[in-house]
Amino acid sequence: MNLGFVGQALITEQVTVDEVALARIQDFFADCTAVIGHLETSILPDGPTYPMKDRTCHYAQSSDLAALKTLGLSHLNLAGNHAFDLGPDGIEATLKGLAGNGLVGIGGGVDRDSACSPAIVNTSTHCLALWGRDAGPQPDVVYASDALSPLKARPGIAGLRIDRHLQVDTTGAKELNRISQETGYSQWAKLRADIGYDPNSSNQRFYGIPFSLGEKCQDNYDVNAADWSELEHHLRDHDAHYHVIHLHQHHWGEDWQTSPQWILDLGKSLIDMGISIVAVTGNPRVHPIYRYRRGLILSGLGGLIFHTQREATYDESVWCGQLVCITLSEKLIQNIRLLPIQVGGTSRSQRRLSAGEVQTLPFEALSTIDECRN
Ligand SMILES: [Fe+2]
Repeated sequence: MNLGFVGQALITEQVTVDEVALARIQDFFADCTAVIGHLETSILPDGPTYPMKDRTCHYAQSSDLAALKTLGLSHLNLAGNHAFDLGPDGIEATLKGLAGNGLVGIGGGVDRDSACSPAIVNTSTHCLALWGRDAGPQPDVVYASDALSPLKARPGIAGLRIDRHLQVDTTGAKELNRISQETGYSQWAKLRADIGYDPNSSNQRFYGIPFSLGEKCQDNYDVNAADWSELEHHLRDHDAHYHVIHLHQHHWGEDWQTSPQWILDLGKSLIDMGISIVAVTGNPRVHPIYRYRRGLILSGLGGLIFHTQREATYDESVWCGQLVCITLSEKLIQNIRLLPIQVGGTSRSQRRLSAGEVQTLPFEALSTIDECRN
């Protein structure tokens, strides 16, 4: 069985694909049971609707999704920072638009349960569970909620949120506390916490940023415990030969050309939990693929279509993409094939989606996740 992976499709207009590239990509994915990508836009509802952002609000027509089906995609992760750009109306229109184009959305739904549940793909021999999650940072409103009478359920996306946590050394903690005392922030925070309006003021915070005392100053990335438990719970409820997760994140890191360590650690934890393939998008650049135990971490899938409003300011690396095809047998990943691509831009730019030469790698040829630390 083959599974295909592509990076993010930021679509705001009709997609233009080079004819030769189209044939190559279709051929590359021809034997795939499923081809999963990330949708970095929202579909316009039939009637007027509200924008949920004042800047970088992405939307497209339902017909603009047709190119994804033509390229061979079957599933799109909605759990990202643009699915809610048109609010609940946009989520519903996107699900409808995907279905109208023969595509299936994951990581988004009309309520929390549907957003958090996987798409199931059954073959004659295997059952696949395809999950979508967003790691943030995003406001709470984008995540789907359950109905709480008399309130309706809120359509939205599924979260596996990362909470950033600042650790400071003794000198740093003293200084932050001194400033908080002098400016009155400590007393201000205590008054709000005392009435339950803000988190407990006994936890150290500096202008809203929680921090803790440690040996050195460092930025910690912790998985939201409730989101983790919910994913664990859902995973137990879905027996499948292979669990695959598409994870979108916008924390990026201090070096945009590599995946931050917390992404790799999260990938390992997900594989330990029972996921076989962790595919990451968010930073529009290709990052390495690692093996860990019997699983794979595609630490950065890069782009597929990039109708960005910032074409002139991005460096060239965002236009170098990669398509991935993974061959699986009974409980084992056999090999991966890689197809380098030139990411497609807008109709106004000269960039067209095009494809290079296929490279095949046996599973054992990939670096292990621990080798990448050397
Ligand atoms: Fe994104």
